Amino acid sequence: MTKQQPIVIGHRGAAGEAPENTLASFELALRQGADAIELDVHLSADGEVIVCHDHTVGRTTDGAGAIAEMTAAELKRLDAGRWFDERFAGERLPLLEEVFQLVPLEIMINVEVKCPYTPRLAERLAELLAQYNRLDTVVVSSFNHKVLKQLQEAIPNLRAGLLYVANFVSHRQMAAAAEGLDVYSIHPQHHTIDAGDMAEATGYGLRVYPWTVNDPQDLRRVIDAGASGIITDFPGRLRSLLNEGKA
Ligand code: G3P
Ligand code: MG
Repeated sequence: MTKQQPIVIGHRGAAGEAPENTLASFELALRQGADAIELDVHLSADGEVIVCHDHTVGRTTDGAGAIAEMTAAELKRLDAGRWFDERFAGERLPLLEEVFQLVPLEIMINVEVKCPYTPRLAERLAELLAQYNRLDTVVVSSFNHKVLKQLQEAIPNLRAGLLYVANFVSHRQMAAAAEGLDVYSIHPQHHTIDAGDMAEATGYGLRVYPWTVNDPQDLRRVIDAGASGIITDFPGRLRSLLNEGKA
């Protein structure tokens, strides 16, 4: 029996080659053949879901300050592309809604929640998932499993992905810790999971999406170990490796 190929998940879009978490980065990931994209979200002061990795804007824009203390309109004035390369000047911090508008429905979106739980976060996520018919093609992940639990309580049938590093925690302990949570996928740091762990997890019906795998040798190892999907800054590189395997 031939092994199922992993899906290609573009990390923050195609963060190796475009400014992370911008529409340009997501477009590039799609052009490079990604099956899915990963992105990070925070809530603005006026309750919009904003796509950005850090809780402050200093590293990836020409502004400064905390996202939670700025309105969406203020955040939208910032340049989120020039820091990476002059070619990307004028890129903005996207709203999650804009990503839902851009990305075709057949492309899965992994929304990683970086901010604390609030009822407004659940309310706005629920609205967007319903409006864009995305409940079955979005996986919401977080290192904060309590936040996932709270979101799943607020949004029935929400697909939850557990992010973690498994150095001191077995994958069985992870599943136990997540009791009460309906887990769709596990997202371990890629050095901390091997083929045996992946087989065990997929045996429970879980998808395994390791992050962030960029080096060709690491990509090969994680493919061979049987990952269900691979989160990478270089979706084009992973797509080429998978195509080579088919030849
Ligand atoms: O979702 C996988 C990965 O993005 C987790 O770490 O810091 O890149 O968001 P980080
Ligand atoms: Mg992330």
